[in-house]
Amino acid sequence: MNPILIERISKSYKGKKGQRIQALSELTLEVKPGEILGVLGPNGAGKSTTIKILTGQIPPDSGTVEILGAMAGSMQARSAFGYLPENPAFYDFLTPREYLHLVGAAFAMSVDRIKSESDRVLALLDLQTDSDRPLRGFSKGMVQRLGLAQALLHDPDLFIWDEPMSGLDPMGRALVKGLMLELKRRGKTIFFSTHVTADVEAVCDRVAVIVGGRLQALNDVQEILADGIEGYQVQILNPSAELAARFSASEDNGVMTELYVSREALPGFLDLASRGGEDIRLIEPRRRNLEQFFLDIVSRNQR
Ligand SMILES: Nc1ncnc2c1ncn2[C@@H]1O[C@H](COP(=O)(O)OP(=O)(O)O)[C@@H](O)[C@H]1O
Ligand SMILES: [Mg+2]
Repeated sequence: MNPILIERISKSYKGKKGQRIQALSELTLEVKPGEILGVLGPNGAGKSTTIKILTGQIPPDSGTVEILGAMAGSMQARSAFGYLPENPAFYDFLTPREYLHLVGAAFAMSVDRIKSESDRVLALLDLQTDSDRPLRGFSKGMVQRLGLAQALLHDPDLFIWDEPMSGLDPMGRALVKGLMLELKRRGKTIFFSTHVTADVEAVCDRVAVIVGGRLQALNDVQEILADGIEGYQVQILNPSAELAARFSASEDNGVMTELYVSREALPGFLDLASRGGEDIRLIEPRRRNLEQFFLDIVSRNQR
């Protein structure tokens, strides 16, 4: 069974001047068991609206969402995932441990289990030393990490996170990326939103690009990167004059020569290099990266 099944959901809001704002149009998407799927889109694309519908906070105008077979918003659906909202905020007189107790109680966990799971998630998010200090005075990054800790507490098989890396410093981002990969290794499924392509590249199996409330692309991340090979950077030790003449060097320090070989020219290059017995030290693909892929889609939609 697919953890998330989104079928043709649309949503509009009422704007300040009474006009309709179409936030989401006919979005269809399924999330497969054990995958990390990133929803990538610029500000205002409809990412948070999608997540609010999945988590049952707002109903769609039309369309349906199933979470592990249950209707979004139902008790069964809501207890099936760990949720991180965009810009989480908590009562600042509570300590992380007290807040986690509240969350655990909401999920009907026993006091013993709340205690052991709190220890586990506080360690995972590197919050042990601050676990008994009131949240007042916590940095944005610490609050964000507590948001993730509470989303992990009841150890569900599905996670729905709205911009999990936002507000984190480089160390925090690395910690969260590592955490996501570890959850995937344990068979968990993660659906998260972001506007940062590097985050998608680091952790996602698939990426859904949303612009203007519409799904514009749904791709395997490795396929995007593989399809994007434009040429190869090659390093050769003392290349022959013939080879150097045909493939102009981009760098030459007298010993190692670096060449750029386009994708089309690679067979000819390899042929020549093998006949000449060249000493190739490195052949590295140069790709159109995910950022370029994303920007192309966004600019196509703005025209
Ligand atoms: N409560 C609301 N009332 C009116 N407009 C809203 C509301 N929430 C979101 N919007 C609008 O809907 C669109 C999508 O917003 P959102 O889903 O928050 O995008 P994202 O999370 O991708 O930045 C935007 O144009 C936003 O201004
Ligand atoms: Mg948002």
